[in-house]
Amino acid sequence: MNKKLFRSMLALPILALGVFSGAQAATLAQIKASGTLRLATEGGYPPFNYYKEKTLTGFEVELGNALAKAMGVRPVWTTISFDSLLIGLDQGKYDLVIASHGITPNRLKAVDFSNPHYCSGGVLVALPGGPKTVADLKGKVVTMGVNTTYLKYVQDLPGVGSVKTFPTTNEQLQAVLSKRADAMVLDRFNAIDAAKVLPGKLQLGDIIFPERIGMAVKKGNAELLAAVNAALASVQKDGTYAKLSKTYFGQDVRCR
Ligand code: ARG
Repeated sequence: MNKKLFRSMLALPILALGVFSGAQAATLAQIKASGTLRLATEGGYPPFNYYKEKTLTGFEVELGNALAKAMGVRPVWTTISFDSLLIGLDQGKYDLVIASHGITPNRLKAVDFSNPHYCSGGVLVALPGGPKTVADLKGKVVTMGVNTTYLKYVQDLPGVGSVKTFPTTNEQLQAVLSKRADAMVLDRFNAIDAAKVLPGKLQLGDIIFPERIGMAVKKGNAELLAAVNAALASVQKDGTYAKLSKTYFGQDVRCR
């Protein structure tokens, strides 16, 4: 093997350790110098982030790739459970989380959010004839994802029978289909996707609460945040965002 190449291979892990070890978040300068932006998402949340065969794809994955391109760096993806995403961010395991997080005061205590990359809302999904409105939830079993904004929202509603959480959308869906739960709360665009996959099987109810969805960086990583916001503005301006949004949702989902 070429000696120089061998030396640079040895140097790589050491460099990576030096730059990214411990709870240190990569700065914008380090990201630019390394040439890679480390992104993280869940990978089980269609049509936003999911595996098609073995390839990670979806609106947020393609958007993340477009943002990296606008920043002049190469995207490298990690997928982990929704529940663990913000913890890993805090530990410096990756630089940017794009996984449909609603921007909430509570989360803002732990991480910083970009400008919203889409606007949506939680809807009720049930078998035909099941709960459609918040009032219909009286005494019912409702399911939603672990640590989601929907959980907090439903827990605070008076009269709900009980609440069941699952790590993935698919497990929630299975609970509704097998009648272990009366309804689930899903992002509106998730729900439209699920209804398409299971034609005639699901009833979409009211949007029970609207949300602005953003990307997260480690708290205080201000330069990276500014670069991400600038990249988002640029892909929203040059038509890249509109095209992606149209492909996945048939409409432009940016916040207005
Ligand atoms: N928007 C909701 C929230 O902020 C649900 C997000 C779920 N995302 C996911 N990748 N499973 O909590």
